Amino acid sequence: MSAETVAFVPMAETDLSWVAEQDRVLYPFPWVEQNFSDSMAAGYSCWLMRAGDAPVGYAVLMRVLDEAHILNISVAADCQGRGFGRRLLGHLCAVALAAGGRQMFLEVRPSNASALALYARAGFETIGRRKGYYPAPEGREDALVMRLPL
Ligand SMILES: CC(C)(COP(=O)(O)OP(=O)(O)OC[C@H]1O[C@@H](n2cnc3c(N)ncnc32)[C@H](O)[C@@H]1OP(=O)(O)O)[C@@H](O)C(=O)NCCC(=O)NCCS
Repeated sequence: MSAETVAFVPMAETDLSWVAEQDRVLYPFPWVEQNFSDSMAAGYSCWLMRAGDAPVGYAVLMRVLDEAHILNISVAADCQGRGFGRRLLGHLCAVALAAGGRQMFLEVRPSNASALALYARAGFETIGRRKGYYPAPEGREDALVMRLPL
């Protein structure tokens, strides 16, 4: 499986059990199937990334006027560290730009080293911090707010 030959397809109802299963593995406070189907129903840009026949990642992007907000970006645990995250992020930027987006935003846990590395390398800058934004095993964790001009 190579990150050079991925395909991006709109997320479908039939993908939701795989997607929610990955989310349970990847996040301490995962989305459930309903969160993904609500995102699809709301018209958010929901994507599955495939390498060959196998799904390797997924993402949810919310677009409002000339701003885009990444709500979820995830690579299956056994596929991480091979460039798939960078490809998925690049796809979201291309989608946002094609729809007239000028800026991309996201929130990330300060403890999420791999995500921070991915975003920094793509040119995102930290523009703020939301106090106690995320639930955490003990109490709450702040979110860093990051922005990328498109
Ligand atoms: C964050 C995530 C999407 C990155 O996907 P990935 O496929 O592992 O990332 P890539 O292989 O494309 O790597 C992209 C960059 O991040 C860096 N990186 C990836 N994992 C890293 C790690 N564990 N530690 C440090 N840097 C890391 C890579 O070195 C690469 O930079 P480089 O090109 O300079 O080497 C993936 O780790 C993931 O799904 N994590 C769980 C879900 C999550 O936390 N999502 C983000 C929520 S805000």
